[in-house]
Amino acid sequence: MNAPFKIHGAAAREAFTAFVCDDATAELLKPIATENGWDHGRINKGGLRNAVQTLSVSASPNILFVDLSESGDPLNDIGSLAEVCEPGTVVIATGLVNDVRLYRDLVNSGIQDYLLKPLNPEQLREAFNQAQMILAGPRASEAVVDRPHMMAAFIGVRGGVGASTLASSVAWQLSDKQSRSTALLDLDVHFGTGALTLDLEPGRGLTDAIENPGRIDGLFIERAMVKANDKLSVLSAEAPINQPMMSDGTAFFQLQEEMKQAFECTVIDLPRTMLIQHPHLLYDVQTAVVVTEFTLAATRDTIRILSWLKSNAPQANVMVVANRVSATAPGEITRKDFESSIERTVDVVIPLDVKLATQAAKLGKPLIEVAKSTKVGQAIQDISGRLVVAAESGDKQAKATGKSLLGKLAELKTKIPSKKTKAA
Ligand SMILES: Nc1ncnc2c1ncn2[C@@H]1O[C@H](COP(=O)(O)OP(=O)(O)O)[C@@H](O)[C@H]1O
Ligand SMILES: [Mg+2]
Repeated sequence: MNAPFKIHGAAAREAFTAFVCDDATAELLKPIATENGWDHGRINKGGLRNAVQTLSVSASPNILFVDLSESGDPLNDIGSLAEVCEPGTVVIATGLVNDVRLYRDLVNSGIQDYLLKPLNPEQLREAFNQAQMILAGPRASEAVVDRPHMMAAFIGVRGGVGASTLASSVAWQLSDKQSRSTALLDLDVHFGTGALTLDLEPGRGLTDAIENPGRIDGLFIERAMVKANDKLSVLSAEAPINQPMMSDGTAFFQLQEEMKQAFECTVIDLPRTMLIQHPHLLYDVQTAVVVTEFTLAATRDTIRILSWLKSNAPQANVMVVANRVSATAPGEITRKDFESSIERTVDVVIPLDVKLATQAAKLGKPLIEVAKSTKVGQAIQDISGRLVVAAESGDKQAKATGKSLLGKLAELKTKIPSKKTKAA
């Protein structure tokens, strides 16, 4: 089932178990069990009620056949089954209620098929064949686990350009909207806003990690991180500003390693000073998001940071995001001049929207939550979309040819006609 489950650990699984309400159903199942080499002893009486009781104390089978005939509220009762049934079990249900809405709701709740009584052998055979095919093929739950880990670092070329705002919004987008389990690692240890933006207390997790890198493991991650939503966990700090941060960087490296195991995505809010001190923080990052604005100072620092990335993190895909771009008041530098100074194009432009930023701050929500489908919202979604594509295409490419993402992108560029080329 793909509804919520309880994990029981890796106990050996039976191929098949049935919980039926009447002898007729049991008799129909027996020849099919024989054909498949399944033990008749696995056909139990008691229907759904017995299924829930039994599976709450034992491992789930690969294929579960469950009779809902005695259930007063099948949909609700299937919910209790979902709580005790392990992921990966293919569930076939049967019952007396002929209602297309029930059928649809059961299938939506993760049931493979709902067979209306009276049953016939052909219909049963067909359903079990389907179930075997699903078990033999790639499973949805495994496909999720199979996604390559996405790791991105947001680097503001100067303070105040909005790097933290974008890091928290992208982390929110990936977790809440795309259902990817995500870690937001805020490495601005003294002045971090990762927790503040999401209206959370940062806790001592990050400070503890820095003080005691040896303690960092999966369990530590689980305990030390603060939950912002079902799929988003934050590790942030407001370390006392009367003591310097003492770390050789081991803690950060360890944290990245553990997060890679525990989450599908890691979003790092990486202050530029940390780059200089701990260049290894970028070793595993697929995309470095360089956040900037169209000012003179930001232009200078973008050039310097891009050059630093080229020599220190050549494997990372670089995305340049210009934030706080005003449509009405032209900035110090035009986009054109900015791009020619940094010798590359800007990938994403985000408008200045003080109203939205203020609203987000007042509500204690990430900017994306209030921006929704505004230009700001669309731009943030564009960033997360690009990050996911970079992670997935990089992984495929790495698997297929052993080539880096950078190589792939370079190849891709030669295939895309230049925008300046006009049709004759
Ligand atoms: N597109 C935008 N429009 C208006 N205000 C923004 C925008 N992006 C960020 N801000 C605001 O700019 C300020 C600085 O953002 P922050 O993310 O803390 O910057 P950084 O982490 O780069 O120092 C915050 O008050 C934030 O709300
Ligand atoms: Mg910041």
